[in-house]
Amino acid sequence: MQILVTGGCGFIGSHAALRLLDEGHSVTVVDNLFRGHRAAADRLSEVGGARFRFVEADILDTATLARAMREQGTELVVHFAALAYVGESVEKPRDYFRTNTAGGLSLLDAMSSAGVRRIVFSSTCATYGEPEERFIPIAESTPQQPINPYGRSKLQFEEILRAEVGNPKDPSPLAAVALRYFNVAGCDPDGRLGEDHRPETHLIPICLEVALGKRPHLTIFGDDYATPDGTCVRDYVHVTDLVDAHIAAFRQLEPGVYKRWNVGIGRGYSVREVVESVRRVTGRPLPVVMGTRRAGDPATLYADASAIRRDLGWQARFTDLDEIVATAWRWYQAHPNGYR
Ligand code: UFG
Repeated sequence: MQILVTGGCGFIGSHAALRLLDEGHSVTVVDNLFRGHRAAADRLSEVGGARFRFVEADILDTATLARAMREQGTELVVHFAALAYVGESVEKPRDYFRTNTAGGLSLLDAMSSAGVRRIVFSSTCATYGEPEERFIPIAESTPQQPINPYGRSKLQFEEILRAEVGNPKDPSPLAAVALRYFNVAGCDPDGRLGEDHRPETHLIPICLEVALGKRPHLTIFGDDYATPDGTCVRDYVHVTDLVDAHIAAFRQLEPGVYKRWNVGIGRGYSVREVVESVRRVTGRPLPVVMGTRRAGDPATLYADASAIRRDLGWQARFTDLDEIVATAWRWYQAHPNGYR
């Protein structure tokens, strides 16, 4: 298939593009390299050869997106391009709505003009906000009440997709799937690609940077939550499993229908459990300092993953936290400075 991947030089997008190339698809990656890495595109080019093409462009550049789709004969768009820091979204809300919401509109305009009618969208569990305890684990039917601009911007694009697929006058109706990711972790098990965020704010990469001696310690953001050990609980899903979910989702695309699934392993690990796992996997000291709560952190978030299991036959292969951490550790050891 001819597939256009937006944000394909970022952490998740690059892993998805790699997998699509491995499966024999032709991939055009569009990325503005604001947070993505040219080195990731270079890697993808080595793997994909003539089946890979990189277009450096912004998601708001509708004309370039449309041209790329026409030139490639795009049959499917997988849309990762986004700003994705919760904290930053509170400080720069307009940037988030511009890139994530208006960027999505620009992409849909380009798809319309190029006649592309299939899209898989990376959404997030942040669209659920802070669900009441009775909604944990979180099923797809949980009310979506985001508590920050990041979650809101992603929810807005879900709503746009929902409206777009339901357009009764559309002679060629859109087919859309939104996948709501929980905490995506780990790296390509073969070590070809990794995770390199600037700035890094995610728990597992920070722990690994401490293990590498690049940071003096990890600050745990609060141990007074109503959880078994007082630290926050999250659902860590391996990036390769997440990519599998996309591939399973392609087959479910139906014109005029909007579908959505949570992607998580269906169990939570606390911050302390992650710390212990990183200590076990790396065999290195991991000093921790107890800090105060980080604004906007819900106590417990993990997926009810039964719908995706039932509907797509998808099941995470990496369910052991140590295995997830080990794939990331391999990358960090080989690339202590990331893609630099
Ligand atoms: N944490 C620490 N110290 C750190 C970094 C993180 O204690 O230095 C804790 C956080 O407080 C949180 C847990 O580790 O409890 C996980 O934090 P991450 O920043 O790794 O991930 P989040 O759960 O905050 O974010 C994830 C996704 C977002 C998504 C969000 C929804 O990365 O894209 O879940 O809440 F929006």
